[in-house]
Amino acid sequence: MSAALDPAAAGPLTKPDRLPARPWFASGPTVKPPGWELADLAGAFLGRNFRHPDGRAKLRTVITRSAELLGLPPGYQLAIVPGSDTGAIELALWNLLGHLGVEVCCWENFGFTWLVDIVQQLRLPAVTVHRADRYGALPDLSRVNFDHDVVFPWNGTTSGVCVPGSDWIPDDRAGLTICDATSAIFAMAMDYTKLDVITWSWQKALGGEAAHGMIALSPRAVERLGTFQPDRPLPKVFRIARDGRLVAEIFDGFTINSPSMLAVEDVLRSLDWCAQVGGAAELIARSRRNLDAVARWVRDSPYVDFLAEDPRTVSSTSICLRVRHAAFEQLSREQQAAFIARLCARLEECGAGYDLAPHREAPPGLRIWGGPTVETADLELLLPWIDWAFAANLHELGYE
Ligand SMILES: Cc1ncc(COP(=O)(O)O)c(C=O)c1O
Repeated sequence: MSAALDPAAAGPLTKPDRLPARPWFASGPTVKPPGWELADLAGAFLGRNFRHPDGRAKLRTVITRSAELLGLPPGYQLAIVPGSDTGAIELALWNLLGHLGVEVCCWENFGFTWLVDIVQQLRLPAVTVHRADRYGALPDLSRVNFDHDVVFPWNGTTSGVCVPGSDWIPDDRAGLTICDATSAIFAMAMDYTKLDVITWSWQKALGGEAAHGMIALSPRAVERLGTFQPDRPLPKVFRIARDGRLVAEIFDGFTINSPSMLAVEDVLRSLDWCAQVGGAAELIARSRRNLDAVARWVRDSPYVDFLAEDPRTVSSTSICLRVRHAAFEQLSREQQAAFIARLCARLEECGAGYDLAPHREAPPGLRIWGGPTVETADLELLLPWIDWAFAANLHELGYE
C-alpha cells in the first residue's frame, strides 16, 4: 500500500476521550453566544403591538447598537427588514439596480443566487459576470468595473472563500458596491466606507435567529433611491422609498411589517454579549483564533486542506475543507458524498460535532463554522474526533 493510502496516516482508530462542551458548528443558524439561555429572553416584548413606544424602542436599539458596535461611518442608514439576509439583499437589488450597468462577482452558491436574480428575474440587460469556475477559487477582482454597480458576497459561505480585504474597491467609484456581508460582518475586518449597501442577518456571527435582515445604506445609496425609480413592481416588503425619498421611519425602528419580538430580544442579547466581550474587534479576533486552530490542524494533517486555494481568501467563519487522501480521491463524487455523510453521522452519533456537512452545492468535504460564538476550545476538541471518524471510515472501506 502506498503511503498516501495508509490509514494510519489519517489518524488513530481510538476515540478521543473528551467531547466539545458545545458541539454545534453549523454555518447558520450558528451556535448561540457562550452562556446563552432561553431564560435570557424573558423580557421579550411579546403579545403586544410592536409599534408601541416600548416595542419600537427595542427595535430602535437593535439599529443604534449595531451601528455603534460595528462603527458604521456617519451618514449610513440602517434598518431591520423582512426575509433575513435574502430579503435584505433582494430588497437592495430590486430598489437600486438598473440605473447603471451591473457587475456580479460570484464564486459559490450565494453569488450565483444573486446572479440568477439579476439576470433571470430582474432581466437587466447590461450585466458583466466575474465568475470562478470552481469552488475554492475567486474570480479576478482586478477586472471589476466600478463605473457600474457591483454585487458580491464578502464571504462565500458555501466555499469558504472570502474577498482579500477591500483594497480592490476604489474610493472614487461611480457605481454602488452592494455587499452581501452576512457571514462576514461581526467576524471579519471590513472597511465599510468601501461598501454602499451592506446586508446581513442575525443568525450568523451573532448567533441570533433567522427571520430578519439588516441593511445599511451609504449616503450615495440613499441618494440613488432619490434619483432613480426602477421601472418594475416592488412588493410592499421591498418598499423603503416613497416619492423619491427614503422612508425615514423604517430606518428608525418602524419596520415595514411585523417583526418577531422574540428574535429581537435574542439579538439584543447577542449585541450585549458583543459589547461585554470587547466589541466587534474582539468578535473578529475570536473568529481569527478559531481559524488559527483549524489552520494548525490542517498544516499537520495528512488528509485535509482548505478548499480556498489562495491563503488570503480563507474564511474564518465558514471554514471549508477538502479531503486530500488517495483513498478518498479515487471514489466517485457520489461515493465521496456518502463517505462524508458517514463521517458526519459518526460525529453526530458520538455527540462530537453537528452539521459539519458541506452545502449541497459544494464539493464533498467538511464545513466548520468558526465564527465568534464558537469557543476555540470546542473547535480544538472537535478536530481529533474528525481524525478518528476519518480513520474509522477508511477502516470500513477496507484500508487496514
Ligand atoms: C452569503 C450568504 N448569503 C445569503 C444567505 C441566506 O441567508 P438567509 O437564510 O439569512 O436569508 C446565506 C446563508 O447562509 C449566506 O451565507
